[in-house]
Amino acid sequence: MLIRRELPSDESAIRRVHADAFAPHYPGEQPAEPQLVDDLRPSGAYLGALSLIAVSDGEIVGHVCCTRATLLPREDPVLGLAPLGVRQSHQHRGVGGALMHAVLGAADALDEPLVVLLGHLDYYQRFGFRPAAEVGVEPENPEWSPFFQARSLTSYRPELRGRFRYAQPFDDL
Ligand SMILES: CC(C)(COP(=O)(O)OP(=O)(O)OC[C@H]1O[C@@H](n2cnc3c(N)ncnc32)[C@H](O)[C@@H]1OP(=O)(O)O)[C@@H](O)C(=O)NCCC(=O)NCCS
Repeated sequence: MLIRRELPSDESAIRRVHADAFAPHYPGEQPAEPQLVDDLRPSGAYLGALSLIAVSDGEIVGHVCCTRATLLPREDPVLGLAPLGVRQSHQHRGVGGALMHAVLGAADALDEPLVVLLGHLDYYQRFGFRPAAEVGVEPENPEWSPFFQARSLTSYRPELRGRFRYAQPFDDL
């Protein structure tokens, strides 16, 4: 399995990855994540260097991206990590973990200070995420608090605090 950056020719395969990965979260409905990625690409918040795919036997089986987010009120730039998806047929083989390590390493190399996400504490703690409240970062919606996590990178500064604001396309979720 190889990890590489997304290319324009990968877009439809990435859509299929998220449709399949997130299907169990949307019984009887279409998952929102394929459209979210399509809406993020032209939004100005998309960061091509932080949109990574996992390829196994020539097939795209996983995708993750980090997009530009801010901390209010100062609008300090940070990253929002979402979505992360692995095709159901390829889960539990380390693909998600490989994508997470790769995107965090790339974000660190780009001098990004902080990555924020909504997800299960059990899964993301292994990648260095901890409750975002511990670094003074609050969610837009207080109901997210139990799942709201942050990972500081090398150029993190403790004054990076405030209310987290995802890129605009997340508002439509
Ligand atoms: C979450 C996801 C990306 C993990 O991908 P993966 O390739 O299976 O991950 P890995 O193989 O690196 O790690 C698997 C381990 O992660 C843990 N794990 C996976 N999903 C988890 C969850 N929802 N809660 C807690 N732990 C979880 C388990 O410990 C699992 O170990 P196991 O294989 O022994 O059961 C994948 O399950 C997925 O695409 N899920 C649907 C989409 C989703 O919920 N994305 C995350 C929110 S944006």
